[in-house]
Amino acid sequence: MKIIVTGGAGFIGSNFVYHMLEKHPDYKIICLDNLTYAGNLHTLEEAMKNPNFKFVKGDISERDCVFKLFEDEKPDVVVNFAAESHVDRSIEDPGIFLNTNIIGTQVMMDACRKYGIKRYHQVSTDEVYGDLPLDRLDLMFTEDTPIHTSSPYSASKAGADLLVMAYYRTFGLPVTISRCSNNYGPYHFPEKLIPLIITRALDNQNLPVYGTGANVRDWLYVGDHCSAIDLVIHKGRVGETYNIGGHNERTNLEVVKAVLHELGKPESLITYVTDRPGHDRRYAIDPAKIEKELGWQPTYNFEQGIKVTVKWYLENKGWWEKIISGEYQNYYDKMYTNR
Ligand code: NAD
Ligand code: TYD
Repeated sequence: MKIIVTGGAGFIGSNFVYHMLEKHPDYKIICLDNLTYAGNLHTLEEAMKNPNFKFVKGDISERDCVFKLFEDEKPDVVVNFAAESHVDRSIEDPGIFLNTNIIGTQVMMDACRKYGIKRYHQVSTDEVYGDLPLDRLDLMFTEDTPIHTSSPYSASKAGADLLVMAYYRTFGLPVTISRCSNNYGPYHFPEKLIPLIITRALDNQNLPVYGTGANVRDWLYVGDHCSAIDLVIHKGRVGETYNIGGHNERTNLEVVKAVLHELGKPESLITYVTDRPGHDRRYAIDPAKIEKELGWQPTYNFEQGIKVTVKWYLENKGWWEKIISGEYQNYYDKMYTNR
């Protein structure tokens, strides 16, 4: 089996590359990634040593590059992780989100149509469902929850999902979609909440919490997301969408305090800053379909996952120190100075 993994130099894609190389040692994995600020070749150093892994630098929205790769490699499966993924950046500059997340998806699927494919898998997000009220804990997102987006990021991901289903219905492309809740774990870029808090707290810097910190996210350890996608591409039914989540809802304040507790750092580092415009209140995934149909179960609860994650950041300072010392620092100053 030969699999193209797009966005494999990013957070979840790289974890998926390592998961697949370990679980399926006979598969060939080709990572297509154009190395945006979020892509990091250091992350793939170990994978590069494996003869079954190959890295190709290229943009999923560039038709010539994508078609050439398909011509050369004739993949069996495509798993499309490549995306612009940060909500705050999409509020600053939506354009690139539409290009990568929507046009990139179209180009990848056009190549699948031309060269033939056993499965095209779209890695989507629970954010396409919009948000839930904070006072209705009985409500969760199911696969039938209507799409109702809030940010340019989630709108671009929803646009891509609709296109994926259109290619299934119109052209018979063998597609699946997965919609996962917030991930955390190794190789998470330190602009997202959990790695931002870990890396700043270690340096005794203030920790920006948007609004009152009451917004709720449903957190899943990244390895559990990877095992779910592995199952969907092998056993999921074509044309179906699968929600992925592990019932780990926490307010942002609870998350920040859990990280501080694990690091032994004081809560006095917490600083409340102006809220994100259009900030989604609560996400909560109902994973009943993937659990019942494919027998998926997460292996980490939030407390276990946070322990492992904090340990990883402590043991891999070289990985994130390179990132925050460079271009990212300009980004931090732009987003948070005078906020
Ligand atoms: P990330 O930002 O860490 O990584 C994205 C990767 O895609 C980077 O390596 C980047 O270089 C690459 N990329 C960006 N534009 C590209 C382009 N035009 N061509 C080729 N490569 C390109 O993102 P992530 O957090 O790993 O998310 C991966 C996927 O999972 C995304 O589709 C995202 O929407 C989805 N998702 C993320 C989460 C989460 O909590 N992070 C949750 C659910 C779903
Ligand atoms: P984030 O990691 O950006 O993921 P998403 O917006 O896709 O859920 O943010 C997670 C939550 O943390 C979200 O409610 C926004 C909040 N947040 C902060 O309070 N402070 C921060 O500095 C960041 C980056 C996020």
